[in-house]
Amino acid sequence: MCGIVGYIGQKQAYPILLEGLKRLEYRGYDSAGVALQQDHEGRLAVIKAKGRIADLEAMTAGRDLSGTLGIAHTRWATHGAPNDVNAHPHADMSGKLAVVHNGIIENWSALRQLLEQEGVKFRSETDTEVLAHLFARAYKGDLEKAVQEGLREVRGAYGIAVIHADRPDVLVAARNGSPLIIGVGEGEYIVASDASAIIEHTTNVIYLEDREMATLRRDGLRTSTVDAIPTHKEVQQVEWSLEQIEKKCYPHFMLKEIMEQAESLSDSMRGRLDAETGEVVLGGVRDVSKQLTHARRVILTACGTAWHAGLVGEYLFEDIARVQTEVDYASEFRYRNPIIDEGTIVIAISQSGETADTLAAVREAKLKGALCLGIVNVVGSTIARETDAGVYLHCGPEIGVASTKAFTSQLVVLIMTSMYLGRRRHLAPYHAREIIKGLQAVPDLVRHVLKLNDAIRDVAARYKDCPNWLYLGRGYNYPVALEGALKLKEISYVHAEGLPAAEMKHGPIALITEGMPVVFLANKGLQYDKVLSNMEEVRSRGGHIIAVATEGDKEVARLAKHVVSVPDVPEPFQPILNVVPLQLLAYHVAVMRGCAVDKPRNLAKSVTVE
Ligand code: M6R
Repeated sequence: MCGIVGYIGQKQAYPILLEGLKRLEYRGYDSAGVALQQDHEGRLAVIKAKGRIADLEAMTAGRDLSGTLGIAHTRWATHGAPNDVNAHPHADMSGKLAVVHNGIIENWSALRQLLEQEGVKFRSETDTEVLAHLFARAYKGDLEKAVQEGLREVRGAYGIAVIHADRPDVLVAARNGSPLIIGVGEGEYIVASDASAIIEHTTNVIYLEDREMATLRRDGLRTSTVDAIPTHKEVQQVEWSLEQIEKKCYPHFMLKEIMEQAESLSDSMRGRLDAETGEVVLGGVRDVSKQLTHARRVILTACGTAWHAGLVGEYLFEDIARVQTEVDYASEFRYRNPIIDEGTIVIAISQSGETADTLAAVREAKLKGALCLGIVNVVGSTIARETDAGVYLHCGPEIGVASTKAFTSQLVVLIMTSMYLGRRRHLAPYHAREIIKGLQAVPDLVRHVLKLNDAIRDVAARYKDCPNWLYLGRGYNYPVALEGALKLKEISYVHAEGLPAAEMKHGPIALITEGMPVVFLANKGLQYDKVLSNMEEVRSRGGHIIAVATEGDKEVARLAKHVVSVPDVPEPFQPILNVVPLQLLAYHVAVMRGCAVDKPRNLAKSVTVE
């Protein structure tokens, strides 16, 4: 999704802005731009273009881009095609005021008509340009007041940064429904839509709340609501390091993140499991443990990969915690008028903690009186702050657009949360101890699975040109089938469908043709025999089976063209091991097809608009 960087300080702004934009590249974008306050000329330099940041860099080569105040943006088109004119920043008619914006202004069309009637000439098709003209109309020498006044007319989501050529001493930032963080340095501030653009400079940050704004000067900052009521902010620490957001020796962030899963899983468990007592220690839910103990129903809500984790969570909560559980797409939950009674706990799962639909689902659940928990990776993100309690993933920054390590950590956190509930309800300590011991062994087993990378690459080479794939699994592995198919679709643009294996006979079996790759999750377990029958059905129709199976399984080897053998673990842990080969398979197919693995077309890392 769009990215914002803004700088005010003593240093040259342009290199800082450009570096910040590069750090935000992973969010997905189609154009980029920058506006600089050029002290010596009392005007703004605005440069923007469709394409990559490298194109912007090439365009600016040799130009005088000096200045210590500026804003920059990577755009992911919503209103208007991705082109040079629609790229941000957007300026008012005088060219003196510039704004960058993430989010969507819902009443932009009405505002545009109004402004046009007043004689404003629009250059772009964007909703954002409305903001530039509104602020300019309200500007009487005080940028903060102009932004406040302009925002009063606006309905919708925004994270914005605004500068004015006549105010070299001020950068104004505001947010409503779109994240904005302020990095606090010595005599300088960096505004960004996500911490990765800031941590190179400082780990001291301030998170703006919805309908809050900040006026940044080199000698200090002032925060208020957009209705001008002063607010008090604490400076907080970002946990992530620069090293964590760099690719190191890997060609892609996705591969790095797949490969670091043994470590990220250990990080998610660290300090939370006691194998002696069978206790799970989750500090973030301690204050609500009584309500959890008496929960009658759990609703897990999320989008995309996090929703797949939620599907596994449904099995876990019913098996381990013995509590009635449902899973809902956040986008459906928020508009469905869900029934929430006393005793319903809503758990939102989100890597970024900023997904618009998941956040709206949290707000809807809270409005209806539910206790809301967050299972979130990004510390300080909006969902993390707005939920009543929660459990952080602690798996480190996930930069690749395709979610990988966050998914496996979500699974681990769901296991731990279901045990936390289970121990307070019916789960015996000896049983909990067994689960904990099993769970603690998982990172090493993942390390073992990762060693299969070369064999999985060979399978990818064999099938990379196939246009259609099926992924099938049952029980705990049905969500893994969905996740495997999503990974292939989103980064290699190959059509893939994931299904519960039993559903195949109800229609999709008609798709199977000679040589079509069909991926089975076929580990030993409760439904193993049923899965073997499904494999027979696929084989007899000429489908080529790629099976993830338990080490040493001869039956699966007989039926499948290719077997990826994983260690034998209890069913609740199988999704963690099984998804790793599917992540690698998707990765290699995408690389072999020449796709931009970390920046897949049309996709954004964090979907902060509906
Ligand atoms: O940040 P979130 O976990 O809330 O994101 C949810 C989905 O947008 C995300 O999982 C998406 O489906 C990924 N591209 C999947 O790889």
